Amino acid sequence: MQVIICDNAQQVAENAAHWVSELINNKSNPVLGLATGSTPISLYQQLVAKHQAGKLSFANTTTFNLDEYQNIAADNAQSYRYFMNENLFDHVDINKNNTFLPTCTQAQNPREQGLAYEAKIKAAGGVDLQILGIGANGHIGFNEPTSSLASRTRIKTLTQQTLTDNSRLFKPDEEQPTLAMTMGIATILDARYVLLMATGKGKAKAVKDMVTGGVSAMCPASALQMHENAIVLLDKEAASELSDHNYYLWADKENNKVNQEFGLFHNF
Ligand code: GLP
Repeated sequence: MQVIICDNAQQVAENAAHWVSELINNKSNPVLGLATGSTPISLYQQLVAKHQAGKLSFANTTTFNLDEYQNIAADNAQSYRYFMNENLFDHVDINKNNTFLPTCTQAQNPREQGLAYEAKIKAAGGVDLQILGIGANGHIGFNEPTSSLASRTRIKTLTQQTLTDNSRLFKPDEEQPTLAMTMGIATILDARYVLLMATGKGKAKAVKDMVTGGVSAMCPASALQMHENAIVLLDKEAASELSDHNYYLWADKENNKVNQEFGLFHNF
């Protein structure tokens, strides 16, 4: 795991945007894994700005989102499709036919939908770089604690903590879904690179469990310890429960020397 401690949330977003642009600018048909939540919004703003400045084109990019609520219409403002359109897709030159989310209506069989999503990712050549946030309970995507570390795209029931954490995003008259389709932990681990962003004090404990705790289904993000190329971008608050800050800062400097010589994705 490469832990990068940034001065603030803005730097986390800039750093993440650098990784995404390096991928897109250096690979002919990049496949990007995307996340929702409040954390990656600033990343998407950076990407939109780069696009508008003529420095980044999404024309050849394919995207796969981590998760989507079950049985939610694309034009529902709470759907993750709507979120992606609003925050990224509507502002860049991506072909929306190449943007995918793991949808599942009431009438559809979640198992079949999950298998079809996995097959679609495979057919696209696999995810090159998966963007992740982290839940306060250590979830990634909607892989809640107790999720199998070998899980694949499937339907999940959200925990009370996640429902409470996300309730701030719903108006009083809006129904909050309790079921969601999510890439599994094994699906996420298949990505060639994973980049997890975490900001704010509320994520400090989950970050500590992920980086220095044992690998456990109780902290799904800890599965990233098993990933060959996991980058963890933190602001100071999210890193506040980690010891060894000096090592991470020093290692980042040393990694930068290697990255400058061989490129960010030298492990491809
Ligand atoms: C949500 C999403 C996750 C996200 C997490 C944290 O429920 N399913 O993909 O990483 O919770 O969200 P936030 O960035 O808003 O804290």
